Amino acid sequence: MVPLKRRKVLSSGAGSTGTTGSTGNTGNTGNTGSGHEVTFPSKFPQVVLFLLERRMGASRKAFLSRLGRGKGFQVEETFSERVTHVICENNSGDEVRRWLESEVRGQGRTPAHLLDVSWFTESMRAGRPVEILDGHKLQEQQIEEEEVVVVSVPVYACQRRTTLDNHNAVLTDALSLLAEKAELSDEEGRGVAFRRAAAVLKALPEPVTDMKQLRGLPCLGGHSLRVIKDILENGASSEVEATKNSERFKALKVLTGIFGVGVKTAERWIRDGILSLQQLQDSGQTLNRAQQAGLQHYEDLNQPVTKEEADAIAAVVEEALASVLPGARMNLIGGFRRGKLTGHDVDFLITHPEEGREVGLMPKVVSWLETQGFLLYQKTTRNSYLEAKDGPARPASNMDRFERCFSIFKLSEEVKGEGLRPWRAVRVDLVVSPISQFAFALLGWTGSKLFERELRRWAGHEKNMSLSSHALFDNKQSRYLRASSEEEIFAHLGLEYVPPSERNA
Ligand code: UTP
Ligand code: MN
Repeated sequence: MVPLKRRKVLSSGAGSTGTTGSTGNTGNTGNTGSGHEVTFPSKFPQVVLFLLERRMGASRKAFLSRLGRGKGFQVEETFSERVTHVICENNSGDEVRRWLESEVRGQGRTPAHLLDVSWFTESMRAGRPVEILDGHKLQEQQIEEEEVVVVSVPVYACQRRTTLDNHNAVLTDALSLLAEKAELSDEEGRGVAFRRAAAVLKALPEPVTDMKQLRGLPCLGGHSLRVIKDILENGASSEVEATKNSERFKALKVLTGIFGVGVKTAERWIRDGILSLQQLQDSGQTLNRAQQAGLQHYEDLNQPVTKEEADAIAAVVEEALASVLPGARMNLIGGFRRGKLTGHDVDFLITHPEEGREVGLMPKVVSWLETQGFLLYQKTTRNSYLEAKDGPARPASNMDRFERCFSIFKLSEEVKGEGLRPWRAVRVDLVVSPISQFAFALLGWTGSKLFERELRRWAGHEKNMSLSSHALFDNKQSRYLRASSEEEIFAHLGLEYVPPSERNA
């Protein structure tokens, strides 16, 4: 559809001075718009000019505008959909097209004529709009236009297959950083909007080089589009660069990078003038046990964990299970299950094929690990989920209520050279689930976070169901829908099954 329209645009024009596009069509339109000096009645009501300042310069634009109005032309100061002729100097058709497309997004129409300033000067000389010849038209690469593939992307991330093969990392990194900024500023809604926009770009089969590739895609709001446009045109987004350089953002990143420190605590410290680790140490702030450990192992914990390290830890946890409860099963979850090569932590889900046998398992595992000297820190929270009592409603936060152990592992490493430490600290999350909830826990803990959020939104908005990492409740039928595999949960939700490696939204 798009290229067709384009072709029409390109082949129209010769001999016509504007039979398309003019809406109001009245003679007095030269008086609209603000602040320009026009008092002349327009001699050519079908022609509404707009002079593009880009590369022409403001003073030349002002001069040419005055000239045009003096000859009885309508010249608009700002671009609007009334414009029929866009006059440019030293711009390619593609550049102008791209610029216009972002300007008129949502208005649905771009003007018919993209013209070189030569058409304008000839018309001035003639005292009327001259016939548009091929040489007046801005050169557009028609072949490229026709190659624009309109991809359709479903609205919910859980309907999409998002591999780790991201063709738009520059754009998604920028949007993710703005999401992070929003999340660190207590603007959750805005954060989610940026995450959704980034997720759409991650699902595209090609790199985005042109705004028109984004036509019709869901979840791209005005703010995200501005950021993308900025990067495509200028190589960087001014907002992203400003954020990266912001002292407050940098301080929030450093402080929340401490295990055990959330946004609220970081903000309180920043208010007290603490912006760095050194200042925190010098301040004499009281730190809880988690934060002390976090500060102590700061560097290690901010160093990505590799898959090899995750596998080494998996072997240790397997050994612990074999020793304290043979028959217990364990799965690597989180990003590593999705095929990521690095992560900020390692997540494991533990269960036992006989319901109830998992009760009391976590303390045994933890105590085994502790005795063997594997834990630098651990905090276990008890399972607080009771179906009968809690019902399907999920807790206010997305925290679920499995028995869970947040820990810092002491991982022995091959000593590769002299002076290297023989071990490093790694964050490890252990979660224990009864077998009856295992599929839900597996699905809920595999991520990505956005994929999970979208699954829950899909369930609620599209299916009138409530999904958590414990259960799926059908509100219409007022009953739980059981499942013993992830495939069954997708089926209950009316979704095509998406394997873990394609949940990297
Ligand atoms: P992570 O935060 O570990 O993310 O949560 P990740 O995808 O593994 O990424 P990295 O590599 O470690 O940074 C893993 C999954 O566990 C769920 C999250 O939704 C995420 O999908 N999760 C995490 C919970 O359900 N509850 C929590 O309290 C924490
Ligand atoms: Mn993880």
